[in-house]
Amino acid sequence: MKRQITLGSVSITPVERRYVERVLETTLVGPFEFSKQVAARVAELHGYKYGRYLNSGQSALTISLRAIIQQKGWTHRPLVATPACTYISTQGSCIFAGCDFVLVDVGVDDINMDPKALRDTLEHQKLMGRPVDIVMPVHLCGKPVKREIKDICDLYNLPTVVDSCETIFAPKDLDWGTIVCFSTFSNHTLGAGAGGITVTNDKQLDFFLFQQISHGRENESGGTDPHTMGERFRFSEWGESLKPSDLYAAVALGGIERRYEIINAQRFNALRLRELLEGLPLGLPSMDNHTFMFYPIVANESVDVTKLLKHLHDNGVFTRRLMPITNQPVVLKYTGMTQDQLDALCPNAAFINRQGFYVGSHPGLMTDDIQYLGKKIREGVELAS
Ligand SMILES: Cc1ncc(COP(=O)(O)O)c(C=O)c1O
Repeated sequence: MKRQITLGSVSITPVERRYVERVLETTLVGPFEFSKQVAARVAELHGYKYGRYLNSGQSALTISLRAIIQQKGWTHRPLVATPACTYISTQGSCIFAGCDFVLVDVGVDDINMDPKALRDTLEHQKLMGRPVDIVMPVHLCGKPVKREIKDICDLYNLPTVVDSCETIFAPKDLDWGTIVCFSTFSNHTLGAGAGGITVTNDKQLDFFLFQQISHGRENESGGTDPHTMGERFRFSEWGESLKPSDLYAAVALGGIERRYEIINAQRFNALRLRELLEGLPLGLPSMDNHTFMFYPIVANESVDVTKLLKHLHDNGVFTRRLMPITNQPVVLKYTGMTQDQLDALCPNAAFINRQGFYVGSHPGLMTDDIQYLGKKIREGVELAS
């Protein structure tokens, strides 16, 4: 069979099997003990007090925005600052939470929200009479945003929903945000098939998150006997049904246990790739605090990226463009701008849309896969330059 270098993998080891078997034995496949454990462990590992496990990362983002709006008692349509390169869920969650979003340009070095662009956006929006209400930075591909982003949010006293769906288990000192959201969708660093997690230090926000996940229930406790059942099923808000399954949680719990193994493998693959791609006209990610859910590359102008990607595709290497947002039809329609106008607003994102792509660096790739990947990228760059 032709060699395939995929973008992600989910590894099921005896650890995950054992947990899944335990869930199956109990037949409690709903949101019970394992789901609670996943939420509590992830909160603890990221230095937060409260955690919730739910159906997806996008839902986690949506209900986090709603929880902040509810706490603030806002009746206007809030404005959220989002990065111009990310997965569409970042902006989608704003729409589903009844917010508008603005696009903030990213840095070419880390493909994350750029501090100067964020400051400019906040000042511009103030001047226009529609100030930003919430900032939603994204730690993309496993790379935490620059610390200055936090300093700016603090300075402007803005609540933050941090989209860390691609960056679970980054160094703890880099964790900040009113609410931080993670995803356990397949092929993520903690890939369990599906799932999302919220963490926060604010008890009230955590309760609002619970309500959104659980049909708007007024009480988390309340038993099953006829006297307390009524309390448990009293509803004081409209809430969605975003409950997870302990089967997913069991897989996630295995991944949490093996987190160092997973991240070390991703970083090791990235380090090897860096060596193999040395000297090529490619912008490569720095190693420092990156967890490498993917390996992002931004080629110099001299490289025809479409040609390069065709070579990779023909040789069984899976690739994707680097999280483009500003050229998505749904975004163009939403902003009402032309492509040229959006590109002028976010020139780095426009460059990344043209010259960026990513390849896999996941633990399922062995030493000879990485060797092959490096060789094929090198060949492709030579062909496309
Ligand atoms: C940056 C980012 N945000 C949000 C999400 C949404 O997560 P989910 O697929 O669990 O809804 C993803 C998913 O891949 C993502 O990459």
